[in-house]
Amino acid sequence: MCGIVGYVGPRQALSILLQNLNLLTYRGYDSAGVVVSHNGTLYIEKTAGKVSALEALIGETEVEGHVGIGHTRWATHGPPTTLNAHPHTDCQGRIAVVHNGIIENYYVLRQELLSQGHKFTSETDTEVLAHLIEAYYQGDLGAAVRRAMQRVRGAMAMVVLHSGEPDKIVAAKLDTPPLIVGLGQRENFVASDIPALLKYTNKVYILEDGEVAEITRDGVRVSSFLERPSRRVYQKQVTVIEWTPDMAEQGSYAHYMLKEIHEQPTTIQDTLRGRLDEPARRVYLENFLSPQQVQNAHRITFVACGTAYHAALVAKYLFEQVLRIPTEVDVGSEYRYRYPIVENEDIVVAISQSGETADTIASAREAQSQGATIVAITNVVGSTISRMADAPLYIRAGPEIAVASTKAFVGQLIGIYLLLLYFGQFRRPQGSPALQQILAELPHLAAKAQRILDDTAPIERLAQEISRSKACFFIGRHLDEPIAREGSLKLKEISYIHSQGYAAGELKHGTLALMERETPVVALATQENLYEKMLSNIQEVLARSAPVIPLIQEHSSNLEVLPEPRIVIPRTNDYLAPVLSVIPLQLLAYYCAVALDRDVDQPRNLAKSVTVE
Ligand code: F6R
Repeated sequence: MCGIVGYVGPRQALSILLQNLNLLTYRGYDSAGVVVSHNGTLYIEKTAGKVSALEALIGETEVEGHVGIGHTRWATHGPPTTLNAHPHTDCQGRIAVVHNGIIENYYVLRQELLSQGHKFTSETDTEVLAHLIEAYYQGDLGAAVRRAMQRVRGAMAMVVLHSGEPDKIVAAKLDTPPLIVGLGQRENFVASDIPALLKYTNKVYILEDGEVAEITRDGVRVSSFLERPSRRVYQKQVTVIEWTPDMAEQGSYAHYMLKEIHEQPTTIQDTLRGRLDEPARRVYLENFLSPQQVQNAHRITFVACGTAYHAALVAKYLFEQVLRIPTEVDVGSEYRYRYPIVENEDIVVAISQSGETADTIASAREAQSQGATIVAITNVVGSTISRMADAPLYIRAGPEIAVASTKAFVGQLIGIYLLLLYFGQFRRPQGSPALQQILAELPHLAAKAQRILDDTAPIERLAQEISRSKACFFIGRHLDEPIAREGSLKLKEISYIHSQGYAAGELKHGTLALMERETPVVALATQENLYEKMLSNIQEVLARSAPVIPLIQEHSSNLEVLPEPRIVIPRTNDYLAPVLSVIPLQLLAYYCAVALDRDVDQPRNLAKSVTVE
């Protein structure tokens, strides 16, 4: 979380910094700030609030300068005030730092620096960096940063400039928070994420743990502060990004979230493209697990957080039911600390849109260190998880900007079906009816998803009703249960309506006590083998006066016992229903949030890409 940007080149830095910060606001929006260096002076502006508040503050001020850095914050140490906004400076106001992540030993360092006479003005851990670099500075910013970075512990990315070295910015990374250097023509950039660079270049260096990049308009020198001597400069490999600038633009949509919901048919097609050979009943995944690795796996464990965790829950049902492989699922923040039992032939699948979620990375590392083979289902090529994985599977959803994940979830589901089929071809070489049905239906899913999106008016009407509720429940069984959880998460995170996703059979063990006229219940009933059980659960809720909105496949039976309005998705194979049933729930959350005038793309207290624990 937190977005960092930097620029060195012939153009005026300020407008580039602001433009690029706007593309990173999804990483945090508690405060924003910039610093531009010119002729030995630093122009600094910062404020609590979003980048738009910073822009308003700067107004028409003419700011000369071709070198600068900027920041948009998701608060960790100290409340989101102007005083705590980045950049932070040293005692003499010559060094300015922006930072993403956490300095775990900041308190000890702060005490040490205070005892040396340094004066602190904020409550942040970041300010320690400015003073530490000041303490080590002897005319070479790169050298001072390397020494300072050798003192700090934690996980962080930072960028710094010094008024006495006006043509340079220095970036450094410790552990996982992402930092990308964009390579232009006689100009160079740095940013926390790729969308902020796409307009200028598709050639980047992805910095690794322990690297320092000294960036001038003519070049980038990369060294490692972990190695000794730490000043040794080495050649980094250039990564070429395949995303285009328009992929990160909002276009004519009212919000990024709506655009991304509507992109889902394309996500389904793109994730499948070139990987499915239906006549030959084969799935092709490049540079992936060997047949031996698949055959030898005694167990698969999925680790993920938030929405990606819900995709993992879908995977558990599928792998156990279809392939009979014991499958575990855990959230990253639990797995990493629960002393998991890992065996050499285990396969651990980390699911992460960003590929940068700290808890998911730590879980995958823990499993890898105990001998597991790591598969990554991720959207971002070059992300930390993709690089550490033994077998990355990219979902090709394009940049996801809205904080609430939508198209990435659908991409993750498609990735899971591909993984299931891939395992199936080595574990069930003779095939199975379930695998064949999935293989045959996958190519039709995009068109069916499009049908849902072609008429959103009924969902908009429903949202008007639900947005007036004080709480909402989502229930389902089997494959509907993780989608109930996902529908609930979407609703609460962007509309702030309290909601819960629940296993329908579990309601009567306590939660039924909450059912009343003001608590609508969205009841997913897409699974044929549990349809009648769901009808009973629906009756139990109706009997407590709570309104029920059934979500069913078209041509479902027993309609006379189901209340209206209903959400009806195109008929598909039950195994694949999650891909379709989640779409109306995303729309429902979206239109509720719009009806309540919420900040849809940047809901309160949240940020995309959670790079802290
Ligand atoms: C919810 C949402 C989050 C993310 C979670 C994991 O809409 O977006 O719950 O799913 O923070 O993020 P990734 O997939 O980047 O690891």
